[in-house]
Amino acid sequence: MNTAPTELEKAEFYRRIDPDNLYPLWEAVKEMMTVGPQTQATPHLWKFGEVRPHVVEAGHLVSGEDAERRTLMLENPSMRGARRITEALYTGLQCIMPGEIAEPHRHSPSAMRMVIESEGGYTSVDGEKCDMQPGDLILNPSWHWHGHGQEGDKPHISMTCLDVPLVRFLGPVFAESWTGNTVFPDGPPEDDCHARYGANMLPMDHAPKSPSSPIFRYPYAETKSALTRLAAAGTVDACHGVKMEYVNPETAGPVLPTLSAFMQLLPAGFRGETYRSTAAWVYHAVEGSGRTIVGDRILAWGPKDIFVVPAWFPHRHEADDESFLYSFSDKGVHQKLGLFRDQRGTEAEV
Ligand SMILES: [Fe+2]
Repeated sequence: MNTAPTELEKAEFYRRIDPDNLYPLWEAVKEMMTVGPQTQATPHLWKFGEVRPHVVEAGHLVSGEDAERRTLMLENPSMRGARRITEALYTGLQCIMPGEIAEPHRHSPSAMRMVIESEGGYTSVDGEKCDMQPGDLILNPSWHWHGHGQEGDKPHISMTCLDVPLVRFLGPVFAESWTGNTVFPDGPPEDDCHARYGANMLPMDHAPKSPSSPIFRYPYAETKSALTRLAAAGTVDACHGVKMEYVNPETAGPVLPTLSAFMQLLPAGFRGETYRSTAAWVYHAVEGSGRTIVGDRILAWGPKDIFVVPAWFPHRHEADDESFLYSFSDKGVHQKLGLFRDQRGTEAEV
């Protein structure tokens, strides 16, 4: 007569198969197939006023030759050492000191930068120079040469936004430094991409050269003007206020294959409804103040603060003043893979 195996017999079996690099699925399935998204990340807010002195101190600690790497990474408090702010997203604060040039290089991970403080800062993408003003979104797409300079007399500070954790997970990380005879590669005239692709037009018979947006700078003045006009017209979403996505004009999709970027206006006194999504979000308050309630945490933000909303966390925004929130996300990756889900209002309240 067959008898059910005892726990001792199972444990003995697991021990015997272990040297063959085998593990029983039935013991692991509950942690692998959860009823909903499980993130290791926790909500957190970095007060810019508290971290800015450290960022500027790094400007004195690390030499100008290493300016490109002079970044303090914002590590999620529950994922310290993993060099990321959520499972798939990386954020840092980079400082370029007056007169410095962060030398050109390129890498397969894609980067964006949200400019926080800049007077006289510029970037060069594939040799094309673009001004960098606070609130501008700057793209450094995969495998495009990029370097930066600061011609003003104050430190330049940008929030860098990368897909490094995702690309490292998949494997294809490549990087190289510029070794040409010129400071930057030769390229088109300054802001050529804006004239060519940023006027709701594309060159006749245009064929995209990469899956990334061909626009390297999305000026804040234009973004803010559009959002302000929409808010005045009453186009205010109950969860998001006036939230617009920066797009690749060739596809109308995310600006980069792996990173989506947004700017939203929250009117003064806005009290948003709850929202959650499978994608994670990293926010930066360009202007204004308020708070974002994430699960049981209240993240009170003011100008230049940065905060993270991990995947599937219910959250809602409240604004005291008219506020402009930049955010970036892995939403586009979830959408491409058919994995994106979101919920609004009472459905998102758990
Ligand atoms: Fe870079």
